[in-house]
Amino acid sequence: MRLEPTRDDHFSFGLWTFGWQAQDQFGGATRSTVDTVDAVHRLSELGVWGMTFHDDDLFPFESTEAQRRHEIDRLKGALDATGLVIPMVTTNLFSHPVFKDGGFTSNDRGVRRFALRKVMRNIDLAAELGATTFVMWGGREGSEYDAAKDIRAALERYREAVNLLGDYVVERGYDLRFAIEPKPNEPRGDILLPTVGHALAFIETLERPEMVGLNPETGHEQMAGLNYTHAIAQALDAGKLFHIDLNGQRGVKFDQDLVFGHGDLQNAFSLVDLLEFGGPGGTPAYTGPRHFDYKPSRTEDADGVWESVRANMRMYLLLKDRAAGFRADPEVQEALAAAKVDELSSPTLNAGEDAAALLADASSFEDFDAAAYFDGHGFGMVRLQQLAMEHLMGARG
Ligand code: GCO
Ligand code: MN
Ligand code: MN
Repeated sequence: MRLEPTRDDHFSFGLWTFGWQAQDQFGGATRSTVDTVDAVHRLSELGVWGMTFHDDDLFPFESTEAQRRHEIDRLKGALDATGLVIPMVTTNLFSHPVFKDGGFTSNDRGVRRFALRKVMRNIDLAAELGATTFVMWGGREGSEYDAAKDIRAALERYREAVNLLGDYVVERGYDLRFAIEPKPNEPRGDILLPTVGHALAFIETLERPEMVGLNPETGHEQMAGLNYTHAIAQALDAGKLFHIDLNGQRGVKFDQDLVFGHGDLQNAFSLVDLLEFGGPGGTPAYTGPRHFDYKPSRTEDADGVWESVRANMRMYLLLKDRAAGFRADPEVQEALAAAKVDELSSPTLNAGEDAAALLADASSFEDFDAAAYFDGHGFGMVRLQQLAMEHLMGARG
């Protein structure tokens, strides 16, 4: 079993993940800052393929143009030296006080215009660094109080912003697509586009829906009590899985941002199985970056931080190995067939069959033995799940 990552695994990390100083609502930082150039070298040594960042991770909000350029050039030097790539860039529209009521959807029009300019400047940087995905996480786009936000107007302003930025990318000729990242709450009481489903519906209302997809995060769907593997499957079905944020979450509570697999392990197993091998009925696998958006816990010092970076990749590779064993096991194949998992890929209607033909088919209704499903026709899905868990736990070859 291979647990040491290579570039071919396409693992990437946000600069804000291992770079987090571990300040929270109840206490200050427990670690010092991580230097970007040192981090790029460290990631490269660990077999990481790419790094991502918000503008403000690389150069502070207040930076002069000279300071900003200095940090960009330092990063470029480290990329050249290591071969690490920047597959995705994103903009911080949530930390500075100016964004306290949001960026694209602040009630304050001046703030909205400022937010657009901040993103446009960062789109130029994304293109300069060769990124092909631009993530939009609207953490402050939302409200605490229903009376304080006209939600339909806010969605119109969100649409206006994404449309304008799409125009900008096309006008500049950049090879860049947007990926919206849903989250139900935190930091706002309620965030707009709270789940994958909400975001998919919103994308279809845009002027350039083909340019806009999703960046779903494990913990964000699970904070809403939803099944992340289902969300990813639906995003794939819609052709919208442009990017992914992998991490760990234990149930419906605050955003834990644990190491991938350190939360709901069985859901992480089904996710890796789907991403790597596609649907059991033959739908294709995911080919994009395997991006981790986690936070090294507040308990960790610098050694613990890099250990946690490794842990994300080891968990992914372990799950990939276990999922491969699961797929290859003849007993699993037999249990899949018994549960009729493959049969779901057969169309319900015969070729060319219409409603009249279905009505004329007595075997589909008049002669169909629905009663036989009482005390019979079990699917054996518990057995299938037990086989999956035994593979996950290393109990089967
Ligand atoms: C969070 C989010 C962010 C975004 C990031 C990229 O809950 O804090 O997951 O980490 O992923 O801002 O846009
Ligand atoms: Mn998160
Ligand atoms: Mn995220």
